[in-house]
Amino acid sequence: MLLTRLSIVLALTISAWGSPSLSPHVRHETRRSLPHGWVPIRRAPSDTVLPLRIGLVQPNLADIESLLLDVSHPESPNYGNHWSPAKVAQTFRPSKESIDTVYEWLTSEGISASRIKLSNAGSWVEANTTVAEAEDLLRTEYHVYSHASSGVEHIACNMGYHLPEHVTKHVELVTPTLHFDVKHRGSENGLKRRSNSPVAKPGQPGFGPVSPKTTGSIKTILNELENCNEQITPDCIRALYKFVYVPVATKKNSIGIVEYTPQAYVPSDLDMFFTNFSSSQVGQRPTLVGIDGGVVQAIEEGFDLNGESDLDLQYSMALVGKSQPVTLYQTGDEIEGASFNNLLDALDGSFCTFEGGDDPTEDGIYPDPFGGFEGAADCGTVKPAFVISTSYSYNEADLTPSYTARQCAEYAKLGLMGVTILYSSGDNGVAGNSGECLFTGQEQGFGAPNFNPTFPATCPFITSVGATQVNPGAKVTDPESACEQVIFSGGGFSNYFAIPSYQKEAVNSFLTKFPPSYPKTMWNSTGSRAFPDISANGANYVVAVDGEFELVFGTSASSPVSASILSAVNDARLALGKKPIGFINPAIYSFKGAFNDIKNGTNEGCGTQGFSAVEGWDPVTGLGTPNFPLLLAEFLLLP
Ligand SMILES: *[C@@H]1O[C@H](CO)[C@@H](O)[C@H](O)[C@H]1NC(C)=O
Ligand SMILES: *[C@@H]1O[C@H](CO)[C@@H](O)[C@H](O)[C@H]1NC(C)=O
Ligand SMILES: *[C@@H]1O[C@H](CO)[C@@H](O)[C@H](O)[C@H]1NC(C)=O
Ligand SMILES: *[C@@H]1O[C@H](CO)[C@@H](O)[C@H](O)[C@H]1NC(C)=O
Repeated sequence: MLLTRLSIVLALTISAWGSPSLSPHVRHETRRSLPHGWVPIRRAPSDTVLPLRIGLVQPNLADIESLLLDVSHPESPNYGNHWSPAKVAQTFRPSKESIDTVYEWLTSEGISASRIKLSNAGSWVEANTTVAEAEDLLRTEYHVYSHASSGVEHIACNMGYHLPEHVTKHVELVTPTLHFDVKHRGSENGLKRRSNSPVAKPGQPGFGPVSPKTTGSIKTILNELENCNEQITPDCIRALYKFVYVPVATKKNSIGIVEYTPQAYVPSDLDMFFTNFSSSQVGQRPTLVGIDGGVVQAIEEGFDLNGESDLDLQYSMALVGKSQPVTLYQTGDEIEGASFNNLLDALDGSFCTFEGGDDPTEDGIYPDPFGGFEGAADCGTVKPAFVISTSYSYNEADLTPSYTARQCAEYAKLGLMGVTILYSSGDNGVAGNSGECLFTGQEQGFGAPNFNPTFPATCPFITSVGATQVNPGAKVTDPESACEQVIFSGGGFSNYFAIPSYQKEAVNSFLTKFPPSYPKTMWNSTGSRAFPDISANGANYVVAVDGEFELVFGTSASSPVSASILSAVNDARLALGKKPIGFINPAIYSFKGAFNDIKNGTNEGCGTQGFSAVEGWDPVTGLGTPNFPLLLAEFLLLP
């Protein structure tokens, strides 16, 4: 009797949901706040078709930190024993149980098997569903959102979605749901300049506006070491970091710089720069690796389109020298652009989300349905360089925790393969891109009180690079300070990622000796991932842009400069028959004296002074700037 009643209740419950799945739906993912500029305008039409993609849980991901430490911690017997791409793919390939569970769930909800596909790498399940079907599957509501400045519309669900309890442990994330357009189509890349002409602010879904500081471009180059406080040139970098090195293993070594179309370098700008600072390199170009139809576009010009690429390539090429080729990962075609996911697809075939492309609501889709690049999406087609530098970033709060977790795990996989990944830490101190901060409840906005960390800086498996300056009036041999001109070094504490073991001692020491005076509501004081890891000069770079020398500021400069120095360390190790340095964080936090400790300056933002650069690691300049001879010695001592 009891049993019968129970089964009736059960049957009623099931029919109420119109679904035979036996476990209750549980909340799978939520979004804390909308990215900058997006507002809901109406319910999504129920018959709109969505390319629903279900990212399956990858086995062994819970162990990825220890697997990575095993090949990158200096005390590990396996130091330097990096993995092959095949081993990476094999280790993290979703289980048959996960695939079967998701298929059974979908078919039991009325999505016929003929409508369901599995990606090549076996990590995503795809089905085209109507909004009504997706709302039923995910127990959510879809809305149309509009971007304030560009008018672009985007369908996303309202703050959260749900999965049956027995399915949730097999799924990392579902798209399109809470995730917004994250393509890098414009210029919010944290690069600032001094020049005469203010730059237009292009509408940037997913990004805040750029606010360049303008104090005049330069007529005279001061290429003397006495003037490094006013203008940074390659010689200043060499002097600051004792960076003198003649590469010997350039055939084995590799370094890559990432740019997102329509960002483009200007060939004549490289020659203009080389003429004044590295005359033997006039005519030299980076090795172009176009990802998803990436081309160095020359149709549109302007600081916002050329400044980043010109800066990155002029400094990295001059610093590694003529004999070491620099690879340019030019990502995305001119029509659609691309996101970090498009790059990661190209570098690691196991990451590719779906044959024929990524999620059209977020990533560039190739072949381009909008008339751009007609070739197939790059998927595991590009062998990653040993050191890869990127000067683009989001606010962590722009993205959901699951989205950042999946991408961050991918950086760990590249680390397992022996790749060093550097990202600029952001240029707004403790505030996010464009100066936005967080309200309680994680909504972003101008004038909000709480610190707003940047991503991927907060991913524990990349190396985050902050910015320093030669103080006004100071000599190149004087200690640098945290950058306090035009930009402030991005730094702080993640709201998504726990602290990795390699930085616990350094960060705890900072928190004990110099406890920040801010209320704990303003910054994440729970012991989360702290950034940056290291820093390098980011003020007053002389860069040739569109035929003029400009003074450029930003962690955008610090990252490629650090990459060039680390590439020299790889060269020396490769010459001795050793492995490349790979994921450097566990090693650098254990070194003594390999960095110039920065003890002056702050990273203001959110209406505060931010944190202070102090003795030891700090959330402004990290461990400090490279001391190349000592850094080289430390890495050469490792097996
Ligand atoms: C979904 O629709 C697109 C566009 O019509 C098509 O290319 C794709 O193959 C479909 N996917 C599935 C799983 O049916
Ligand atoms: C750059 O070098 C050229 C050739 O040596 C020289 O004529 C020019 O004055 C230099 N430019 C600046 C701005 O110093
Ligand atoms: C602080 O960071 C941790 C991750 O280490 C996270 O779980 C927690 O929610 C964060 N706190 C806030 C207020 O965001
Ligand atoms: C600290 O930095 C400021 C500039 O931001 C500079 O004026 C001051 O001299 C520096 N102090 C020391 C001790 O380096």
